[in-house]
Amino acid sequence: MRTLQDKRAFITGGASGIGFGIAKALARRGVFVVIADLRPDHIDRALVEVREAGLASSIAALTLDVTDRAAFAAVAERMDIELGGIDILVNNAGVGIEGPVLEAGFADWDYGLGVNLGGVINGLQTFLPRMIAHGRGGYVVNVSSLAAAVRMPANYAIYAAGKAAVLNLSENLREELAGKGIGLSVLCPAFVRSNIHEAALNRPEHLREGSGFGASEASLLQRPPGNDWLDPETVGEIVADGILAGRLHIVTHGEFRDKMRERNKTLMDAVPEAAFQY
Ligand SMILES: NC(=O)c1ccc[n+]([C@@H]2O[C@H](COP(=O)([O-])OP(=O)(O)OC[C@H]3O[C@@H](n4cnc5c(N)ncnc54)[C@H](O)[C@@H]3O)[C@@H](O)[C@H]2O)c1
Repeated sequence: MRTLQDKRAFITGGASGIGFGIAKALARRGVFVVIADLRPDHIDRALVEVREAGLASSIAALTLDVTDRAAFAAVAERMDIELGGIDILVNNAGVGIEGPVLEAGFADWDYGLGVNLGGVINGLQTFLPRMIAHGRGGYVVNVSSLAAAVRMPANYAIYAAGKAAVLNLSENLREELAGKGIGLSVLCPAFVRSNIHEAALNRPEHLREGSGFGASEASLLQRPPGNDWLDPETVGEIVADGILAGRLHIVTHGEFRDKMRERNKTLMDAVPEAAFQY
């Protein structure tokens, strides 16, 4: 994408943390941004900040649960009617699901993968045909995590599985989208100051029953992000630059280099020299 000026962006989970950081960075560079979020309290807080930052004419908000396909289709229709479609889709909504995987119920798999992977799939399925149809080209940013590229502690197995799928899907989708004039980046952050510890509050009622993660999520709620974690506005600026540069991978942190090498080495060491090994 050569310029961000006068583009229209749609950011899921855009009322908090990384999504909101991206929203502000894009708005400052001339983009009209719609933030779509599950949480009305996050939206209210974000809009106050938007006004204080003098960005009220550049950022609007609506409520959306990214796992609700019908609602997704309805807001996409609204974007077509009110904005003439969107140019930039940021599939950012995610939940920091964690817990001992052997204690997980189906509810935990459905919650973690439903938002972290299903939300991205729903975003792509809903918006890509519309972005292709309007013919202006565009850009997609999928939010994965460095958790996708290293071996994580077992408590993060569901989270990492969803993020690995988003990373892989993004890498494999990029070429096909390029043929339609749509660029794609996948964002892989590590520690960013946000409300990611609020997984318990974002869990829908019907996926509370049968969960084995009640205790882990309650303890996570008491563990807010560290003050030394990266500022989401900095992440937003890095993402805006990444879109303009057309980077496939946008990686914000260097801390996991050794863990990434170690993971890749273990995999490569398992690869036989011969084409077939019996
Ligand atoms: N914060 C980190 O350290 C970190 C690291 C790597 C990756 N990430 C990823 O970044 C993305 C943003 O997370 P964050 O850290 O800014 O957390 P956050 O909780 O501050 O922001 C996520 C937003 O998504 C919204 N959301 C949750 N479920 C939703 C749903 N079903 N539909 C619509 N919106 C929903 C939340 O209300 C929240 O406003 C996530 O995909 C997360 O996995 C975060």
